Amino acid sequence: MKLSLTRRYSFPASHRLFREDWPDARNHRAFGKCANEHGHGHNYTLEITVAGPVDPSTGMIVNLAELDDFVRARVLYEFDHANLNEQIPEFRGSIPTTENLCRVIFNRLHGFEHGRITRVRIEETAKNSFEYVAESAPESAQDHIYEFQQERS
Ligand code: NI
Repeated sequence: MKLSLTRRYSFPASHRLFREDWPDARNHRAFGKCANEHGHGHNYTLEITVAGPVDPSTGMIVNLAELDDFVRARVLYEFDHANLNEQIPEFRGSIPTTENLCRVIFNRLHGFEHGRITRVRIEETAKNSFEYVAESAPESAQDHIYEFQQERS
């Protein structure tokens, strides 16, 4: 039997999907309106799943206040009302798609002492959601951010 708990958070943030090394026309083909020069915002819904044994003394997998403090300190404090391209260092070398946002947030949640964080799910809009699920092997902190693949000029 496997038990898990999922907690929901939300934060507004803005982004622009583009690559500096691509001409405008190519960015617009790849990213559509999301490449528009001045960026745009989303109210992201973030779900964090913690799996693990139930502590017999409390009947809980994790104390929610401890999870909240951790998520606030590692993620929400910086991401809330941020321009993801400009203010989140991980996006200096990668595009702030929600796929990459899942990875960045998952990596930031590395080292939670009170349970195993196994899943990060993000709703970008009512129509789009993205999910990162931990593999069983231990994760190293920066493995999963895809850097730009440099193209030959
Ligand atoms: Ni967007």
